[in-house]
Amino acid sequence: MSNNGRLAVPDKRAVTDHDIIDVLAERWSPRAFADRPVEPEKLRQLFEAARWAASSYNEQPWRYLVATKDDPEAYDRLLNCLGTFNQQWAQTAPVLMLGFYKTTFSRNGKPNRCAPHDLGAASAQLTAQATALDLYVHQMAGIEMDTIRDTYDVPDDFEPMAALAVGYLGDPDVLPEKLAKREQAERTRRPLDETVFGDDWGEAAPLAR
Ligand SMILES: Cc1cc2nc3c(=O)[nH]c(=O)nc-3n(C[C@H](O)[C@H](O)[C@H](O)COP(=O)(O)O)c2cc1C
Repeated sequence: MSNNGRLAVPDKRAVTDHDIIDVLAERWSPRAFADRPVEPEKLRQLFEAARWAASSYNEQPWRYLVATKDDPEAYDRLLNCLGTFNQQWAQTAPVLMLGFYKTTFSRNGKPNRCAPHDLGAASAQLTAQATALDLYVHQMAGIEMDTIRDTYDVPDDFEPMAALAVGYLGDPDVLPEKLAKREQAERTRRPLDETVFGDDWGEAAPLAR
């Protein structure tokens, strides 16, 4: 898809087998973000959406660190916590976040097995809210755990999990060529009959056939 030699902003809406709500169908993970700040009230809306996620015993084990390009020093500190591959493209995003989960329950100090799951649910809600506000989120597992701990003095009972790049959709041409091309790649998913089982593990549930 070329437009006077420039790569077009791709349409990546999910091609689904069954109807799903728009914010889920429209969501995808871009690497090219627009050079446009995100309004602080919209960022508050994203965190508010995360805040209202369900969690085991209502522990709300998630915490986020956030930095915007409005504060270049804070932004660079957070960017430096990403792996080198992710730094290449995530620096186009006006907002970076780090997601953490608390490994133990505050109520009794016992391990919280579901904490990473609950952080994931919170980040999924944040992402759905972002899509509703015309924003995009790209999560990253490629983060530098030691750098994060050193930079932010993270308490021992919190684990860094994933970073999030947030912003408005950008022109793929802001990326190095190889990454710009990957922006156009088709989105694929494993079918439901390999994902939803019935009587036996690996056997599709009748409703998923
Ligand atoms: C927890 C998590 C970690 C991810 N880590 C990275 C990463 O380090 N670098 C990257 O470029 N994309 C990363 N991704 C993006 C995935 O590759 C992407 O979500 C997947 O290919 C599906 O594409 P879609 O989000 O556009 O549907 C990550 C996504 C999630 C949810």
